[in-house]
Amino acid sequence: MNYHVLTLFPEMIEQGLHTSILGRAMEKGILSLKAVDIRDYTEDKHRKADDYPYGGGAGMVMQAEPVFRACQAVQDSIKGKKARVIYTTPQGRVFDQTLAEELSREEDLIFLCGHYEGIDERVLEEVVTDYVSIGDYVLTGGALPAMVMIDAISRLVPKVLSNEASAEFETFHDNLLEYPQYSRPEVWNGKPVPKVLLSGNHDRIEDWRKEHSILRTRKRRPDLYKIYQDQEKSVSEAK
Ligand code: ADE
Repeated sequence: MNYHVLTLFPEMIEQGLHTSILGRAMEKGILSLKAVDIRDYTEDKHRKADDYPYGGGAGMVMQAEPVFRACQAVQDSIKGKKARVIYTTPQGRVFDQTLAEELSREEDLIFLCGHYEGIDERVLEEVVTDYVSIGDYVLTGGALPAMVMIDAISRLVPKVLSNEASAEFETFHDNLLEYPQYSRPEVWNGKPVPKVLLSGNHDRIEDWRKEHSILRTRKRRPDLYKIYQDQEKSVSEAK
């Protein structure tokens, strides 16, 4: 997977994503990341890439031409088919595990990060394929959302996690939250680990984990639990 991030703050992306699991995957060549400074594509001698909004109002708007040229340069550098261009915006489809899975199957992804009051609509119409939000709140810019999405997508790319099974049964699998986890010591702060987990009986452990996934989802995420119930109902009706 090759990520290309178009932003006014490339150092934020570079510093944020070259550590830990993703850093190792980049060293191994499983992932690559290029942060592209949109200012490198402006013709302004002061490297200005924004201007006042037509019609007035607060803040600045990123101009169309530097964004367009930065995006073209990246598309031209990619062999094969054109890459999807994801514009990070609170006005987009909300990012979730399903979208992370879909995007993890792409060869190249371009993230276009908005900053200030956003980007001139005309260039968005020309280059963007996906408008994606990370949740219903407004951040100061698109760099953090791009990093959040890259992190979630990358752990689904084969070989990024050393133990592939660890991306298999986890939170959001089958619309359930993950079961509680325990490690040594056997008793901590007077609290013992649930006995069944020490039993060595894998069927019983699996049943316990499934039951606790369901209980936890019902309690913490009733919205998700409803989807799980509907899904179970349609499976049993189809039988
Ligand atoms: N830019 C500002 N807020 C955002 C959000 N919630 N998601 C994606 N991009 C954003």
